[in-house]
Amino acid sequence: MSSEPTTAEELTTVEQAALTSGGDFWHTAPVESAGIPAVTVTDGPHGVRMQATGGDLLAGVPATCFPPAVASASTWDPELLRRMGEALGDECRAQDVAVLLGPGINLKRSPLGGRNFEYFSEDPILTGVLATEWVRGIQSRGVGASLKHFAVNSQETDRMRVSADIDERTLREMYLRAFQRVVTQAQPWTVMCAYNKINGVYASEHHWLLTEVLRDEWGFEGLVVSDWGAVVDRVKAVAAGLDLTMPGPDAEGDEALVAAVESGQLDPALLRISAERVRKLIEKAGKRPAGGYDAEAHHALAREIAGRAIVLLKNDDDLLPLPVDGITIGVLGEFARTPRYQGGGSSQITPTQLDDALTAITAASTGPVRFAAGYTADGEDEGLLAEAVEIARHSDVAIVFVGSVHETEGADRESIDLPAAQLALIERVAAVNPKTIVVLNNGAVLATKPWDEKVPALLEGWLLGQAGGSAIADVLFGRVNPSGRLAETIPVKLAHHPSHLDFPGEHGHVRYGEGLHVGYRGFDAQDREVAYPFGFGLSYTTFSYGAARASATATGLEVRVPVTNTGSRDGREVVQVYVSVPGSKVQRAPRELKAFASVAITAGDTAEVVLTVDRDDLAYWDTRLNRWIVEGGEYLIAVGSSSRDLRATVTVQVAGDPARVPLTAESSVGEWFADARGAALLGEAFAAATAGAGSDSPMAAMAADPGMLMMLGSLPLSRMASFPGSPLRADLLDKLVEAANE
Ligand code: BGC
Repeated sequence: MSSEPTTAEELTTVEQAALTSGGDFWHTAPVESAGIPAVTVTDGPHGVRMQATGGDLLAGVPATCFPPAVASASTWDPELLRRMGEALGDECRAQDVAVLLGPGINLKRSPLGGRNFEYFSEDPILTGVLATEWVRGIQSRGVGASLKHFAVNSQETDRMRVSADIDERTLREMYLRAFQRVVTQAQPWTVMCAYNKINGVYASEHHWLLTEVLRDEWGFEGLVVSDWGAVVDRVKAVAAGLDLTMPGPDAEGDEALVAAVESGQLDPALLRISAERVRKLIEKAGKRPAGGYDAEAHHALAREIAGRAIVLLKNDDDLLPLPVDGITIGVLGEFARTPRYQGGGSSQITPTQLDDALTAITAASTGPVRFAAGYTADGEDEGLLAEAVEIARHSDVAIVFVGSVHETEGADRESIDLPAAQLALIERVAAVNPKTIVVLNNGAVLATKPWDEKVPALLEGWLLGQAGGSAIADVLFGRVNPSGRLAETIPVKLAHHPSHLDFPGEHGHVRYGEGLHVGYRGFDAQDREVAYPFGFGLSYTTFSYGAARASATATGLEVRVPVTNTGSRDGREVVQVYVSVPGSKVQRAPRELKAFASVAITAGDTAEVVLTVDRDDLAYWDTRLNRWIVEGGEYLIAVGSSSRDLRATVTVQVAGDPARVPLTAESSVGEWFADARGAALLGEAFAAATAGAGSDSPMAAMAADPGMLMMLGSLPLSRMASFPGSPLRADLLDKLVEAANE
């Protein structure tokens, strides 16, 4: 064999087909005759879950369980995500993994989404920026990412069949936008297609999605792998642009591909190209050096990220941070002892070690710490509850640990309420101890109203990974000054949520009825009160904002704002830029996040924060022109601490993209008059007709009356031409259309 690598061109059709399905659950298929080895791919995303030899499918060998995306996204810090990606890359190398199956970047459309804990946010820019750094981090180690699940996989109900029925503008601006960003900015080695259908077509068979958009428009250079079991028809899938079907082997599908090529049903070039992409991935992966990693250092990184992910939602009278000595602490709730730190399903990691909050609090405090479980996994237990209340009554502070009971891939949640036993614990403890702190551990938002009004302090502790227990203690005792922010809105009640009327659909279809108004966009558009808004989170210090300045640049916008730490502790502020277009001609949310920065500011200092908005992120998808358009005009820039705490506003003029929509006979009178050239031509034509027809022609009279013209604004010109006595005849119409678009 020559030293040059074999290309797919030199493989037989049978070998090519074999390469495009897996060798087993977690490996590609080797082609020994051509010297092509198998490589390992595995989950993902917040740890490396290598199935142990002989172990069951979801049991992995120990690896660092980093905070799942629900938590890492709450840091709003791309730099942390990059470091997490790098660490994951190192663990992959240590385990000989070529591709880690993540990140999962579907939008959190509904708080009920069963995999929300694996996804970043309800906002596509926040998702895209964070995921881009994650991918850059892991790939900098010579290990591939798998951007998933492409696309519109925002629910688990009927996930393998349901059709996400969605209009193109919403699809482009909301559900594809983060994918587009990560693909164009970080070139993930692989993209994983989703299980579901999009507007009736399986993602795995969606030529428009997998080829026209992903490759032709975005320039994706990597390989498209199926979600595990997502392929229904191998021939259709390869024709659509899917390269690798997992898991394998799939001898029947391989044979179907060979038969399709031989019968002329499938262009042989398509199979060859897919096989070549698989071969290239294997070749690329072969270049990564082997490596090891320092498990203690990774645990420390997991703790750092977890500490930065915790969101302080409430802190009346500065109850937190707690002093480390001189107080008696009651720690109540089973989750303090048995942490909820990740969700169920394919992302489940066997951690290298596991910190619980009870041990961490006990270690941090010099005073007595007493514990009661308060509830069991199965629910209320009057004995446990009474014991907890007694401890609370005799403690200086009571810390109550509650959270979701079960969150898993494969099923959506049925409610966002805490289990009754846990609600009872909060109420009963708060009734006897005015210094009650609630710590939540959950993978997707939980309702906090109305019980949060009875407690002075509330920490959103998400699912924090293996070091979460220590991270919670870090925040409770002020070793970490909280700076986490909500990447998803906490509604007052589920029924308020924009997705509520159309989730999870029925009979094989789910309608994305709220359109562009996903998450905070919908709450803002409907002027709805929320429990805690998108972008919200408190600190142990305070920040004040100076005047903001904004300027348009060749690549977008530059926004500057001075932010001062006005408190007595060093801290971090997450500065957020929301953009509105007050005079917009298209439907838009009242404000949209376009840039953000997590900035460390020492007590008393002022930081000049500079944020840049990419011009592409200002664009909307124009369905008439079938392309992205930046509207020209005045943009309102609001800078603040959350989507509902805007501290400084400034306007800036943005030059628009040329966006003339061609006029046709089907364009309305109003559209003709809204176009300078069209208005002039139509005006002349009407004037001529009026002059020629005499005042008794009804059409001439209409054309001469501005009020009438307004009423006729929505009338397509061709329809006007068909009216009796119309001055617009078909031949004149043709001439007008031609002249208008010259
Ligand atoms: C999940 C993917 C995962 C794959 C492999 C599927 O069920 O949807 O996210 O990567 O399994 O475990």
